Amino acid sequence: MAILPIVTHPHPVLRKKAKPVQKINASIRKLIDDMTETMYAAPGVGLAAPQVGVSKRIIVVDAQDGSGLFQVINPEIVAAEDFGVMGTEGCLSIPGLVGDVPRYRKVRVTGLNRDGHRIWIDAEGWLARIFQHEIDHLDGILYIDKATNIREVKEEEEEAPEAGEAGEATEAAKAGETGEARAAGGVEAARAGAGASRTGTGAGGPQTGARGAGTSPEAEAGGGE
Ligand code: NI
Repeated sequence: MAILPIVTHPHPVLRKKAKPVQKINASIRKLIDDMTETMYAAPGVGLAAPQVGVSKRIIVVDAQDGSGLFQVINPEIVAAEDFGVMGTEGCLSIPGLVGDVPRYRKVRVTGLNRDGHRIWIDAEGWLARIFQHEIDHLDGILYIDKATNIREVKEEEEEAPEAGEAGEATEAAKAGETGEARAAGGVEAARAGAGASRTGTGAGGPQTGARGAGTSPEAEAGGGE
């Protein structure tokens, strides 16, 4: 495994529509492993392949809330509920900034795991937000396209590793008590994030390592997506 350089806005690869993966081979699996290592090292809670300069439809997500690591090839949102939940996001490709973004509270994501088996993920709250942010990356969409109140991360947030996607953790926790909680009918962002259930993990569902990291400020650190 290797830590890959993260490309930053306005690199053109971030604005391209990424191509579906046609064949899952050893080099795709190595890319997924490297993306995972890069996400954890950043630290972030999500990473899309275009962020490491590869225009393919692959994302890795770990909300650091106990829901575990997700590595999804050709992910798609096939159902979504309750649009308009506000929460703060950052992005590893846009260091130093955060903004408030409306998202669906709940999404169902499908895609292929590293073995080529179809998986479905039902995500809520913070985890759902991360999936929406990462899948947007695959279509060349950045959170700043949708955000209001884009601002520099505060000092306290900056201590959280690379404000980028790290910023979201702290902010998500706050959002839980303000915007997101209200919007979502009292479900705290962070806690809601834990509400991921995997329906139909297909075969070999090794996507389950609960890491129970709670929600330390680093955790979401900006949701490093
Ligand atoms: Ni991002």
